[in-house]
Amino acid sequence: MASTMISLASASPSSSQPIRDNSKPILPKLKIGGFSVAHKPKSCSRITMAVAVDVSRFEHVKMAPPDPILGVSEAFRADTDEMKLNLGVGAYRTEELQPYVLQVVKKAENLMLERGDNKEYLPIEGLAAFNKVTAELLFGADNPVIKEGRVATVQGLSGTGSLRLAGALIERYFSGAKVLISSPTWGNHKNIFNDSNVPWGEYRYYDPKTVGLDFDGMISDLKVAADGSFILLHGCAHNPTGIDPTPEQWEKIADVIQEKNHIPFFDVAYQGFASGSLDEDASSVRMFVARGMEVLVAQSYSKNLGLYSERIGAMNVVCSSPDAATRVKSQLKRIARPMYSNPPIHGARIVANVVGDPVLFNEWKEEMELMAGRIKTVRQKLFDSLSTKDKSGKDWSFILKQIGMFSFTGLNKAQSDNMTDKWHVYMTKDGRISLAGLNLAKCEYLADAIIDSFHNIS
Ligand SMILES: Cc1ncc(COP(=O)(O)O)c(C=O)c1O
Repeated sequence: MASTMISLASASPSSSQPIRDNSKPILPKLKIGGFSVAHKPKSCSRITMAVAVDVSRFEHVKMAPPDPILGVSEAFRADTDEMKLNLGVGAYRTEELQPYVLQVVKKAENLMLERGDNKEYLPIEGLAAFNKVTAELLFGADNPVIKEGRVATVQGLSGTGSLRLAGALIERYFSGAKVLISSPTWGNHKNIFNDSNVPWGEYRYYDPKTVGLDFDGMISDLKVAADGSFILLHGCAHNPTGIDPTPEQWEKIADVIQEKNHIPFFDVAYQGFASGSLDEDASSVRMFVARGMEVLVAQSYSKNLGLYSERIGAMNVVCSSPDAATRVKSQLKRIARPMYSNPPIHGARIVANVVGDPVLFNEWKEEMELMAGRIKTVRQKLFDSLSTKDKSGKDWSFILKQIGMFSFTGLNKAQSDNMTDKWHVYMTKDGRISLAGLNLAKCEYLADAIIDSFHNIS
């Protein structure tokens, strides 16, 4: 249907024009049939006819680049090859490569329906029952810091949102202090601290020569960092490398952090998912706390309870006195209020029901062992396939030394591109693959793709 095109050509001055005198309104110019005419609205300043803006007020807003991790899934969906593999996003898949909702989660949700739980707002700090069990799960229920009331815990919007709260706390109360993150790290860490206006630097972590931990590099970088820096540590299952320090190395890291008066800041996104044991995966955090240090810990239930889109996690700050913990908690709430007012209830109730109930808690541990076990099985099969198929004598044992969902293959960007372009294997360009998206049936295919990319692309 044809209609006369009437549009507002320039309703506001551009940034190059002099500042407008508000007492003399600029008449908008209308395009009518290709002509530009000054338009004086009939009644006061209200434009009564329909107008379409053809110069957007958002002209200066540039296209944002696609997210390096979530963009991988978009490309995967568009690929029609039957051997395609999505090893980009860190989300658990079954052996049939389907998303998985844990049985304990379904049970907890049924319980909520049966009880007819309401949807009232939560307090700013979240669900009290959730905050209690989440701190106990992390530190251990008998930990003195809990008994003495020295932990400030607030429910956060999963790991990301909890880290962001901590970013805001650091920006407000530790002005100028740097957060040191591992090189490499989970891609969102840099975004989070950039958006929090918190300066960050990096410490060495990954050694490409050994595809292992650059322990000496890490220690010397922590030593030269300004005293009182925040040191961001992955509690377990380091993302993206899958390389964790040994218990002895953790002790040495803690020594240096103490000597330098640094503040340890743990990101625990995989508790129970790395080793299959909740306690073992929390041992790094607990060791720092047992030394009497003040520690920040962000927690996430995305992976270990498969609650990705429920956005459930927590920010914990262990303080040296209950009084400090009370004050820190009040400030975390103050930060949260204008950001999102209060957190969502559904995931918090699921966690509270599962972790707080001995029967469901044990069932969860069994399911988690199964998930962690499936990942360990495909890790082993991938290693076996690589070792059998690759006749070059290359040592692939680093794959078995890595832990958790991810494996850092050591493939560079060009090689990773080859994995995708030639083999339909979708992964991040840093060479990381999520083994949670792999099944036994496709291990050999993946090994072929890695060997080809490693040896034939420089
Ligand atoms: C190291 C690390 N921290 C935090 C997160 C946060 O995830 P979420 O916000 O889904 O809990 C992730 C997720 O991949 C992660 O790998």
